[in-house]
Amino acid sequence: MTKSIIKGIGHYVPENIVANDDLSKLMTTSDEWITERTGIKERHHRKNRNDSEETTAFLAFKASEKALKMAGLSAKDIDYIVFATLSPDYFFPGCGVLLQEMLGCNTIGALDVRNQCSGFVYAMGVANAFIKSNTYKNILVVGAEVHSFGLDFSDAGRGVSVIFGDGAGAVILSASEDENAGDILSTNMHSEGKFADELCTKFPGSKFGWSDRMRLEPENVTDAEIYPVMNGNFVFKHAVTRFPETMMEALNAAGKTVEDLDMFIPHQANLRIAQFVQQKMGLSEDKVFNNIQKYGNTTAASIPIALSEAIEQGKVKRGDLVLISAFGSGFTWGSVLFEF
Ligand code: ACO
Repeated sequence: MTKSIIKGIGHYVPENIVANDDLSKLMTTSDEWITERTGIKERHHRKNRNDSEETTAFLAFKASEKALKMAGLSAKDIDYIVFATLSPDYFFPGCGVLLQEMLGCNTIGALDVRNQCSGFVYAMGVANAFIKSNTYKNILVVGAEVHSFGLDFSDAGRGVSVIFGDGAGAVILSASEDENAGDILSTNMHSEGKFADELCTKFPGSKFGWSDRMRLEPENVTDAEIYPVMNGNFVFKHAVTRFPETMMEALNAAGKTVEDLDMFIPHQANLRIAQFVQQKMGLSEDKVFNNIQKYGNTTAASIPIALSEAIEQGKVKRGDLVLISAFGSGFTWGSVLFEF
């Protein structure tokens, strides 16, 4: 039976660090409020809000180079790309094709996944299915975001804009017949679209007639259509319910228990959500990896960035049983359980 192993991983964030105190110069907020509610101390934003070079695909390119290096592969060895993002360079085409060109891959398939905070978990689930069905051998799976250009840094947007950061993480998922190799043991993905409006960005969606309205009546376009809107408390309550469900589903499907886990890496949405889930699942602190303090919520990028750092720091080692889980806009949620 073909196994899906994580052969390489890497992450990349823009150099520019924005601390909570920097944000309090733009809006009525404070380091104390942000730290207490979210755990975030700083995040990375590209230097210029309207930069056309340090794009989502570019961040993904930098992370992918590192992942390829760790895997000992070249871009020509990659036979498929799965790219998760909610902040693509273009409305269309997707970012996967841009990454294919930047890396100099062959004319391989490139699929974009639009599942926001759950995007990387979905992307890994799709890639795993391709590997297990012997369709592809080396798949580049990416989560990347540039949020900073699309946030409202006025008081009206403070409940959302303080949370998000820019960054990218990339994984090379490869087929292996080696009986000692790691493997993806189970995946699950879920959605509940009735809550789409609870966390969304409306423009440039086809439901909102955005191009004519932007051109002909820009004065009637509202901030709530242009910028992300989030019913924070509502999202929080659903997240802390869905996380344990998807985690248990992943463990049960593989015949594993919480005690078997070496590391749990939750999507980095809010440190309070992660701590709540940790306690509810009975996990000790050293079995949960969080780095939201440094990066904020980088949506689809948060899990691969965290996994990459956990490996760099020796907190995840070959052979470890690792669970990654996410919840976010859609609503969508899901998990991937794997032996690294
Ligand atoms: N600084 C200071 N005060 C603020 C700020 C800020 N940045 N933002 C909001 N406030 C104020 C509000 O105006 C409100 O004031 P009021 O009581 O006078 O009306 C008060 O603080 C409390 O606001 P809440 O929104 O109720 O704060 P809450 O405790 O819910 O925290 C937060 C907000 C951090 C957003 C939290 O709800 C959360 O993390 N939710 C989950 C987010 C999440 O998981 N998202 C999913 C992933 S994202 C994705 O998929 C794209």
